[in-house]
Amino acid sequence: LPWVMDTSPVIISLLFPTQVIEKNVDPEWTLLTFLRKNWTLFTKYACGRGGCGACTVMVSKNDPVFKKIRHFSVTACLVPICSLYGAAVTTVEGIGSIKTRLHPVQERIAKSHGTQCGFCTPGMVMSMYTLLRNHPQPSEEQLMEALGGNLCRCTGYRPILESGRTFCDKNDSDSWSSLETQEICTKLFAKEEFQPLDPTQELVFPPELLRMAENPEKRTLTFYGERVTWISPGTLKDLLELKVKHPEAPLILGNTSLGPAMKSEGRFHPILLSPARISELTRVTETSEGLTIGAGCSLAQMKDVLAERISKLPEEKTQTYRALLKHLKSLAGPQIRNMASLGGHIISRHSYSDLNPILAVGSATLNLTSAEGTRQIPLNEYFLAGLASADLKPEEILESVHIPHSRKWEFVSAFRQAQCQQNALPHVNASMRVLFKEGTDSVEHLSIAYGGVGAATVIPSCSCPARRWDELMLDEACRLLLDEVSLPGSAPGGRVEFKRTLVVSFLFKFYLEVLQELKKLVKLVSDSRRHPDISDRFLSALEDFPVAIPQGVQTYQSVDPHQPPRDPVGRPIMHLSGLKHATGEAIFCDDIPVVDKELFMVLVTSSRAHAKIISIDFSEALKLPGVLDVVTAEDVPGTNGAEDDKLLAVDEVLCVGQVICAVVAETDVQAKRAVEMIKITYEDLEPAIFTIQDAVKHNSFLCPEKKLEQGNIEEAFEKVDQIVEGEVHVGGQEHFYMETQRVLVIPKTEDKELDIFVSTQDPAHVQKTVSSTLNIPINRITCHVKRVGGGFGGKVGRPAALGAIAAVGAIKTGRPIRLVLDREDDMLITGGRHPLFGKYKVGFMNSGRIKALDIECYINGGCTLDDSELVTEFLILKLENAYKIRNLRFRGRACMTNLPSNTAFRGFGFPQGTLVTESCITAVAAKCGLLPEKIREKNMYKTVDKTIYKQAFSPETLIRCWNECLDKSSFHSRRIQVEEFNKKNYWKKKGISIIPMKFSVGFAATSYHQAAALVHIYTDGSVLVTHGGNELGQGIHTKMLQVASRELKIPMSYMHICETSTATVPNTIATAASIGADVNGRAVQNACQILLKRLEPIIKKNPEGTWEDWIEAAFEQRISLSATGYFRGYKAFMDWDRGEGDPFPYYVYGAACSEVEIDCLTGAHKKIRTDIVMDACCSLNPAIDIGQIEGSFIQGMGLYTTEELKYSPEGVLYSRSPDEYKIPTITDVPEEFNVSLLPSSQTPLTIYSSKGLGESGMFLGSSVFFAIADAVAAVRTERDIAENFIVQSPATPEWVRMACADRFTDMIPRDDPKTFKPWSIPIA
Ligand SMILES: Cc1cc2nc3c(=O)[nH]c(=O)nc-3n(C[C@H](O)[C@H](O)[C@H](O)COP(=O)(O)OP(=O)(O)OC[C@H]3O[C@@H](n4cnc5c(N)ncnc54)[C@H](O)[C@@H]3O)c2cc1C
Ligand code: FES
Ligand code: FES
Repeated sequence: LPWVMDTSPVIISLLFPTQVIEKNVDPEWTLLTFLRKNWTLFTKYACGRGGCGACTVMVSKNDPVFKKIRHFSVTACLVPICSLYGAAVTTVEGIGSIKTRLHPVQERIAKSHGTQCGFCTPGMVMSMYTLLRNHPQPSEEQLMEALGGNLCRCTGYRPILESGRTFCDKNDSDSWSSLETQEICTKLFAKEEFQPLDPTQELVFPPELLRMAENPEKRTLTFYGERVTWISPGTLKDLLELKVKHPEAPLILGNTSLGPAMKSEGRFHPILLSPARISELTRVTETSEGLTIGAGCSLAQMKDVLAERISKLPEEKTQTYRALLKHLKSLAGPQIRNMASLGGHIISRHSYSDLNPILAVGSATLNLTSAEGTRQIPLNEYFLAGLASADLKPEEILESVHIPHSRKWEFVSAFRQAQCQQNALPHVNASMRVLFKEGTDSVEHLSIAYGGVGAATVIPSCSCPARRWDELMLDEACRLLLDEVSLPGSAPGGRVEFKRTLVVSFLFKFYLEVLQELKKLVKLVSDSRRHPDISDRFLSALEDFPVAIPQGVQTYQSVDPHQPPRDPVGRPIMHLSGLKHATGEAIFCDDIPVVDKELFMVLVTSSRAHAKIISIDFSEALKLPGVLDVVTAEDVPGTNGAEDDKLLAVDEVLCVGQVICAVVAETDVQAKRAVEMIKITYEDLEPAIFTIQDAVKHNSFLCPEKKLEQGNIEEAFEKVDQIVEGEVHVGGQEHFYMETQRVLVIPKTEDKELDIFVSTQDPAHVQKTVSSTLNIPINRITCHVKRVGGGFGGKVGRPAALGAIAAVGAIKTGRPIRLVLDREDDMLITGGRHPLFGKYKVGFMNSGRIKALDIECYINGGCTLDDSELVTEFLILKLENAYKIRNLRFRGRACMTNLPSNTAFRGFGFPQGTLVTESCITAVAAKCGLLPEKIREKNMYKTVDKTIYKQAFSPETLIRCWNECLDKSSFHSRRIQVEEFNKKNYWKKKGISIIPMKFSVGFAATSYHQAAALVHIYTDGSVLVTHGGNELGQGIHTKMLQVASRELKIPMSYMHICETSTATVPNTIATAASIGADVNGRAVQNACQILLKRLEPIIKKNPEGTWEDWIEAAFEQRISLSATGYFRGYKAFMDWDRGEGDPFPYYVYGAACSEVEIDCLTGAHKKIRTDIVMDACCSLNPAIDIGQIEGSFIQGMGLYTTEELKYSPEGVLYSRSPDEYKIPTITDVPEEFNVSLLPSSQTPLTIYSSKGLGESGMFLGSSVFFAIADAVAAVRTERDIAENFIVQSPATPEWVRMACADRFTDMIPRDDPKTFKPWSIPIA
């Protein structure tokens, strides 16, 4: 390796394509920027904050702690490029490629159907690859841990896990079992085909780097960038001198704290000191007193050190280490733990820190060093509060941390509660330590520290000296704690009452835990009144929910044994792009290399919810280097959006996040800097409406009420035995597609033509919008969609607006424009699922028969109409779900508020609305003293009937799904087991539910039921298929080629789909409403049939000929080998005045049963089992369809349990990153997860009697919600608390904990809502 100069070189050895040495790097670059920009590699950007794992790569470095080469996964978006001095980086391209050789990880993830949109796949592959580098035969626990930091929004994780499992040591038993009979099949891929993993084939750590590590460079290396200088000293002495010279300069280690702060909080540090090469900082030493861990050790190294010491030392000495290890397992994902340092963690002093509370109660000391010498300070409340007298001096650094061993008669525990079990920042955490006078239960010292309940870790002073460890002490300690940990009602982060409750609930857990241990150690001076035996019923308070490895079976119908093997329809064919997803060779919009003269656009958005724009001053922004222009409404040559939905704001803004103008610069960094310099002055306008309640009060609606009614509801209410009224609040949902919104507009030199590469579900809409915005005909604009990294409805409408703004920039500057939304901006600007507020009144007989149901729903539409009227209509049409209720009234309204406009989202109103209907059912059950499943069964459609809008249908399949789900889940016996469990456990409760579903597919308008395709056969026999659907990960292209293959009777290998383009198939409909494959499949079929018909005479003449022979002959005979296929679909209509219609082509039926267990003290839950039975009719591709069901179920589960949007009282969205908005992770998958497709029924309307399954599974996620509600109801019944409580989705830990009222919730102070301004407001 060449000599390292002192000026500006950095060595990075990328194992792809060969080793490289990179000079002249800018310290502000992250590894991700570098890989994407400098090396045109395709590691993905999805959040930029270390929270999603999409950018995972492997770093290999010499590990001075364990004295070996350590391979570890990192999130490239947070790794500063300069930190990689002497490290090897392996990206997804480095381990295999479809052009050369696939790595087994890549092959298996693709063939196990672990990729849908494929955007998360390179990151998943690299997490798995890194695991295998360290453990070629990992355990399943290691596999789960390795994938814990990678999010996937499409698959529901099961197939990804399954692919990894094929490498695991105990893979013989096949937890995802497989079976194949003539009719039923459970095998989705052939494991036998996989190439074996051969660890000897892996790339080796470059010997040059090894030599460097063995003979470390001692000189200081300095890297100069445009604005920042990175200094990396080689010795501690040099570092300390530098710290004297640059006292303000931070030390940069993992950059997991500094990085996000620099990105989002605008912090800037012109000098960064990197102590990565200082060996003293990674030293670990042990004495009889305790362990001293170098501040530069990563949290992963610390975890390994602690695990090793715990296995060697006696238990009594390792209490603090065990508590640390427990939290190190759930702190962030492995990538962050691999990067983050102990020193960085401690010094950052985040209020949520999981480790500082433990270190504080464990009496850790900080060993500080400076040029002056060394000193020790305690890691105590003063240090944590940042008191200058207890803190580091500017020239000091933290060298190491001493953590003493615990002693006999000392107990240490740690607790945390987050939105979900893993990879989530805690809402509250706590660490508690108690020391007893030897041989007694008399407290010598009690110390407690809390995180998440203040600006810093809080250490209350109550130490309870000389108190006995009994209930009296507990009560008093709780009271003292609540006095000292005084969270004001307006505390940042909100959830105030929940946090207060956790403060005492954790103490109670600790109390019980210690009591149990004490009882083992000493015969407590027996006073049974003070130490009543803890009965088994109460011991359940002690256990946390462990991370479990999901198991399950997927069942589908085998194809007819007479079907020719060449015919792929009905078989589990891998996603066409699967292998390319896995190697990183699948190109997404922003992977298109920089085009000549390209500029970057960044949007400027409103910071006010409702205001007049007084002035916009961008003069300072224009002075910045690289900044070319600012695009405003005045630059729009044509129409600036709709009158009430402007592309670029004019005079007035209607929400925070509304686009006002856009900066165009040479690079994204320059454009972002310019955005900061734009000054906009506003004058606030009244009213600013955010909540549904306020909108109703102000009569602020986007469209007229939608109403359906049948029977005579008033009369029916008079005749019923009982009436219940209630309210349901359903929160909104962020799409969180992994690929944020992106567009690249390339103006051509001739005839005002534009090429637009865009991530959209509806390219024709983008084309049309750009046309009207620029005032040029549609035929000059071509939109190209290669693939979309997840859409879920969020890329139906919004990409058109973004495309149009970018196009204005392109026309104004005459140069190509790239617009890539940051995750924060995407979440802020684009809106999501409509939050809903529902009121119901239900009348029923004591038998549970519902006679009358009146539901009124309001959705929060945001500031413009968008799809809100359609969502309201769908909501009302679908509200009855599976139930026949003779007297019904459904009313719905879309509220206009000053929030970003909400839009289409998988299920389109059904998942929110139907939660109201199902909540009525549970309310009726509670009143009748019957089980909810009985009420469901009693009121379900039984015979051929008509819906509320008078569309006839047969519920036969619905009933089959229900019965099969009851049967497969052994529902009735498990219901009894749940009840038994609940009788035996006080602090943990189980709940079970089964939910039926009738989901109508398609759009309620005829014009949407059409599609076209264009099929070309080339003279070599290869076939190019184009159709109007977009590949969003749902496998539409794969299905289309399956159709074409069957029709043309040739294998799929002859065929190709290049992209969706408005130039080949015009006037397309959005790929949405679950019917993409239905309608486009029929169009492809039509085109292929036309072609085959043309070929028939040739085939007849030469029946023994090959396909190539026939094509050659056809060409010779001047037969056109290109055909357009068209499908003129279903006539859908709905007459709202008469309340009747025929709006939907068909229904998808299904049922899901879920069982959960809740922790009544923390509100946490674990998902024990889910069984789904879905009617897929004759699935075109069971692997894809099961993938859709699982993925949407998990997405639905997120909607109903963890995904919570938080808004400030001023209408600002707080939750703008994966840190604050929790979509399900791999550890959220139910422990047992079974999906079965109902053996086929027939649907004449669709292609080969298949069904569209894109959306329906979403609602089945509510079975988890109702199982949680069932468990909560069991708690309330046992405790004799009112059976009715406000149903609120998501069922977060906060909601569950507060609904399980007990002595602790009674103990906490409650604030009068009139006395404070809350941190956040509920908008549903
Ligand atoms: C996605 C994500 C999830 C996370 N989840 C959790 C979680 O669940 N629980 C939790 O507790 N934390 C969590 N964190 C926070 C994480 O633990 C900290 O960011 C991390 O430990 C900081 O270490 P670092 O090496 O990256 O610090 P850096 O960002 O490199 O540095 C942070 C600060 O520490 C100072 N510093 C570093 N080392 C020294 C030293 N030796 N002497 C003096 N000053 C020093 C620096 O000057 C700087 O100001 C999460 C972070 C991310 C990005
Ligand atoms: S993009 Fe790096 S973790 Fe999300
Ligand atoms: S396949 Fe994982 S995010 Fe789409």
